[in-house]
Amino acid sequence: MLSHLSHRLMLVAAGLALVALAPLEAFSASAAGPMRPSRVDAVQTATVHYTLRTDTSNGMAFVGVGGDIDGQTNPTLTAAPGDVVEITMVNGDGVTHDLALDEFGVSTGEISTKGAQASVTFAVTQNGEYIYYCSIPGHRLAGMWGKLEVGAPAAAAPDAVSIVRDPTDVPDPVGRRAPQLVKVHLTAEEVTGLLADGTSYLYYTFDGKVPGPMLRARVGDTIELSLTNPSSSKMVHSIDLHAVTGPGGGSALLQVQPGDTKTITFKALMPGLFVYHCATPSVAEHIANGMYGMILVEPAGGLPKVDKEFYVMQGDMYTNQPYGTKGMLDFDYQKMLDEQPEYFVFNGAAGALATDEHALRARVGDNIRVFFGVGGPNFTSSFHIIGEMFDKLYNYGSLETPPMTGVQTTLVPPGGAAMVELKLQVPGKYILVDHALSRLERGLVGFLYVEGPDAPDIYRQGPAE
Ligand code: CU
Ligand code: CU
Repeated sequence: MLSHLSHRLMLVAAGLALVALAPLEAFSASAAGPMRPSRVDAVQTATVHYTLRTDTSNGMAFVGVGGDIDGQTNPTLTAAPGDVVEITMVNGDGVTHDLALDEFGVSTGEISTKGAQASVTFAVTQNGEYIYYCSIPGHRLAGMWGKLEVGAPAAAAPDAVSIVRDPTDVPDPVGRRAPQLVKVHLTAEEVTGLLADGTSYLYYTFDGKVPGPMLRARVGDTIELSLTNPSSSKMVHSIDLHAVTGPGGGSALLQVQPGDTKTITFKALMPGLFVYHCATPSVAEHIANGMYGMILVEPAGGLPKVDKEFYVMQGDMYTNQPYGTKGMLDFDYQKMLDEQPEYFVFNGAAGALATDEHALRARVGDNIRVFFGVGGPNFTSSFHIIGEMFDKLYNYGSLETPPMTGVQTTLVPPGGAAMVELKLQVPGKYILVDHALSRLERGLVGFLYVEGPDAPDIYRQGPAE
């Protein structure tokens, strides 16, 4: 604050309207200011120059002047570690602006006169992505910011793999069979996975994907469940299934050390769609890192037949680095405690179900069913499919309560689920969201493509007859 003010005063004292300040003079004037650890020595000369002009003709932006960035809106500036960067801001609109980079403690100070200019000069030493922006209240939000990339852009870890569970990865219906013994074997896997394009993260998973495998049984079944934790794991892992009646939902007996396997046997007493998750401290951390899935316990006689079934789960994730950062990101325990996620995900990764590979697909006339659950750990979903409504909603995953009909959006709490069914009548692209739509900006979106003949009696362009 103080240094910002003194910097501005200096600039005013040095050049009044600043018009006359040559970049190096501006630089040496501000070099006299206190608290500027990244300021370059006055004898150094800038090795990289950029000029940006302010423009409020169409929103608010910086526009590149000259060189490769000429005419670009909020161009990405580049430099190499060791460079001395000089950015000159020209006031192009007569509106008061400045240009600041917080990491380097530099600001041009406010410039109000059209045609006036000022510069910041600073040394860059570390690879990274930095933000330049106008610090006049509201201007950054209105669009006045861009990136300075130093060094090669960070990339995902080379061994990172897809951890996305395909939404069609659903076991066959149980149907009408009698109760029986069902054996299930799960493996806790710590894997470096792709959180987004160019971004990787150390996930904790069941069987290498998020969510873990969907398990399917019927009421009255006896389930023998084994959990293996490979010796390569760094953590103890476990499983708590909400379909289990007994302490810890299984986790009291299934805390598995690396290199060990444990087994429990339980009876599925209640039909329903239930979440399971790791329950090893910090439980919230293991869930945030991807350790959740669902088990469906069908009622006697099975579920009504549908044309397609999908498996979708939502989670919130807490990276040390801001949303959108490239490279290998780390978990941030404090952000998790503060419930301030950077990412929201369907099936484990940002935008995972919006990709061609993992989007949901069906045909006009299909009756589809979505098994939807929230791993969390913290955020309740307002689950909604844009352009459709739920013909049937089995709220809270309760399968023997008669379904609600004609529901637009349903609340699904962490550790909770809903089963929804809808008939598809109009072709096109539908969008799965949490209607708390800010989360879409943090990765929470999926597509449902419906192919087939148009249905102009239901939906068409133009006026009625
Ligand atoms: Cu775990
Ligand atoms: Cu639980």
